[in-house]
Amino acid sequence: MTVRIETATHATPELRDALAVLLPQLNPSLPIPSLEHLVAVLADPAVTLLVARDGPLTLGVAAVVVYVTPIWLKARIEDVVVDSAARGRGVGEALVRACIELARRRGAGIVELQSARSRDAANRLYPRLGFALRDSNVYRLNLL
Ligand SMILES: CC(C)(COP(=O)(O)OP(=O)(O)OC[C@H]1O[C@@H](n2cnc3c(N)ncnc32)[C@H](O)[C@@H]1OP(=O)(O)O)[C@@H](O)C(=O)NCCC(=O)NCCS
Repeated sequence: MTVRIETATHATPELRDALAVLLPQLNPSLPIPSLEHLVAVLADPAVTLLVARDGPLTLGVAAVVVYVTPIWLKARIEDVVVDSAARGRGVGEALVRACIELARRRGAGIVELQSARSRDAANRLYPRLGFALRDSNVYRLNLL
C-alpha cells in the first residue's frame, strides 16, 4: 500500500462520496456534507482538508483549522477518520503528522484536538505523536 496525503482542492462528487463512507465511521449520527457545504469548506482559507489516498482509493481524511486568537495562532485538528479496511497500517499516523506539519508551516504555536475517551485507537495515536492530555473540561452549547 502506497499512501499519499493530499490536500483536497475541489469539491467533487467523488470527495463527497468518500466522506459519505468515512464520516459515519467517525460518528454515524453526523450529517454527510453536501457539495455546497464542501465548496464552503474548501474555500475557507482557515481550513485544510487532507485526504489519504492509495491510487484511486480514499483511505482516510483529517481537517486542520488554523485560527488567530488574541494570544496566538492556534491549530485544531478535526474529523480524523480512516476507513476500517485500511486501519493499522499507519494511515492515521500519516494524516495526523501531515496536519501537524501543515499547522507548523502556517505558523501555529499550538495544536489541539479532542477525542472521546472511548476512542481507544485514537487515544493511543495522539500521545504517540506528542500530544499531551490536558486536564480541562470540554463544553459545548448546541445552537442547532
Ligand atoms: C483512530 C484512527 C484514525 C487510527 O487510524 P489508523 O490508520 O488505524 O492508525 P495507525 O495505523 O497509524 O495506527 C493504528 C495502529 O496500527 C499500528 N501500525 C501502524 N502502522 C503499522 C504497520 N505498518 N504494521 C503494523 N501495525 C501498524 C500502530 O502502531 C497503531 O497501533 P495501536 O493501535 O496499538 O496504537 C482509526 O482507528 C479510526 O478512524 N477510528 C475511528 C474514528 C476515530 O476514532 N477517529 C478519531 C477521532 S478523534
